[in-house]
Order: sequence, then structure tokens, then C-alpha cells
Amino acid sequence: MEPVALRTDRLVLDAPTEADVDAITAACQDPEIPRWTTVPSPYTREHAEGFVELIAQWWAEGSQAIWGVYVDDVLVGVVGLHHITDSVGGGHAELGYWMAADQRGNGYLVEASRAVVEWAFADLGLARLNWRAVVGNVPSARAARALGFRYEGMQRQALTSERGRDDGWVGGLLATDDRTPVDWPVL
Ligand SMILES: CC(C)(COP(=O)(O)OP(=O)(O)OC[C@H]1O[C@@H](n2cnc3c(N)ncnc32)[C@H](O)[C@@H]1OP(=O)(O)O)[C@@H](O)C(=O)NCCC(=O)NCCS
Repeated sequence: MEPVALRTDRLVLDAPTEADVDAITAACQDPEIPRWTTVPSPYTREHAEGFVELIAQWWAEGSQAIWGVYVDDVLVGVVGLHHITDSVGGGHAELGYWMAADQRGNGYLVEASRAVVEWAFADLGLARLNWRAVVGNVPSARAARALGFRYEGMQRQALTSERGRDDGWVGGLLATDDRTPVDWPVL
């Protein structure tokens, strides 16, 4: 698959390149990113270089679709569809994201992710999107809820990372779901 650029009112989404390595490295110094994601810590420029190379490979394979989120050509975050899997009855993938600390709370993440969700269902033809987060990651859960995801439960010690195992909140969104936000019992 060739990388697909997406546009929203305020944002451009496109596959990050070598030119974004410094911005990715800087953003991933925020301890909130390795605290809640599988991003390594400490995070070096080499990590960002490897990430950008892998993104190109993942797009080519069709295994993951990762976008940089740009405001006026500046990378402010990353949104991706991970573990894209075909299946009889429609495929699935997992939505993941992070935003640079100084760009949070502007609605950029929800705006960007809405475009990714739309593309996943309308263009990729997926039937379901998964969302998983370490228990307690309220900002991530609020974003998923805003996108229309339904809370589906807690899986004990289900998430693995450099930190070890964590309990995970899980949610899902079906292509056929109304995306109006619903109540989440944990929020
Ligand atoms: C999770 C994370 C990506 C959320 O990013 P964010 O910038 O807070 O997300 P947004 O600004 O798009 O949305 C947050 C809120 O802003 C609101 N918002 C929407 N448009 C807005 C606007 N124009 N101006 C201000 N706020 C707006 C959203 O409705 C949402 O509100 P809610 O929480 O009451 O539902 C961010 O906290 C982060 O990077 N965390 C560390 C990494 C991480 O945890 N990743 C997820 C792992 S599962």
C-alpha cells in the first residue's frame, strides 16, 4: 500500500519522513508517552530514525498505517492503525496515538483520529477497530469515547511493554456503530 495523506479542517496527516525525526525525538522526551505506550524510554534520535524507516516498511506491507499529524507543516502527534488484519466478515486493526505535550487539549487528536477512523472503515473496509490502554489512562479513554468507541472491559495484565505487564482497558468501534459518544463506566 502507498501511504495515504488525509486532510481535515485544521490538520494534514501523512507518513512521517526523515525530516520529522527531530520533532518525534523531542515529543517522545515527555514521560507521559513512555508511561502509557510502548514507546521506549529513554528515547533517542536513533529510535525516531528506526521508527520512520519502519513506518515506510509497514505502509508497503499493509501491516500498519501510521500518520504524522501536522499543523502548518509542524508534526504535533502520531496516529496509527496497528495490526491490520484481514478476516472473513471484514478485517480489524487497533487505533493508537500520542500528541506532543504542548499540543494537547486542542482537539487535534480527536480531529485527526476521526479522519483515520473514517478511512479505516470507508477505504480500508475494516469491520472493527480495537482500542486498548493501560488502566488509568483517562486522556486516551476520553479521546476514544469522543470518537464513538464503546468501553468493553478490563483485561488483567493483558498489556506488555518495557515496563512489564499492565491491566488494560479495552474498547471497540464497529463500522456499523453510531459514532455519537456514549457513557463509559470508567470515566
Ligand atoms: C491521549 C492523548 C493523545 C490525548 O490527546 P489530547 O490532545 O488531549 O486530545 P484532544 O485535544 O484531541 O481531545 C481531548 C479533549 O479536547 C476536546 N476538544 C475537541 N476540540 C477541541 C478544541 N477545538 N479546543 C479544545 N478542546 C477540544 C475533546 O472533545 C476532548 O475533550 P473531552 O476529554 O472532554 O472528551 C494525549 O493525552 C497523549 O499524547 N497522552 C500520552 C500518550 C498516550 O497516552 N497515548 C495513548 C495510549 S493508549
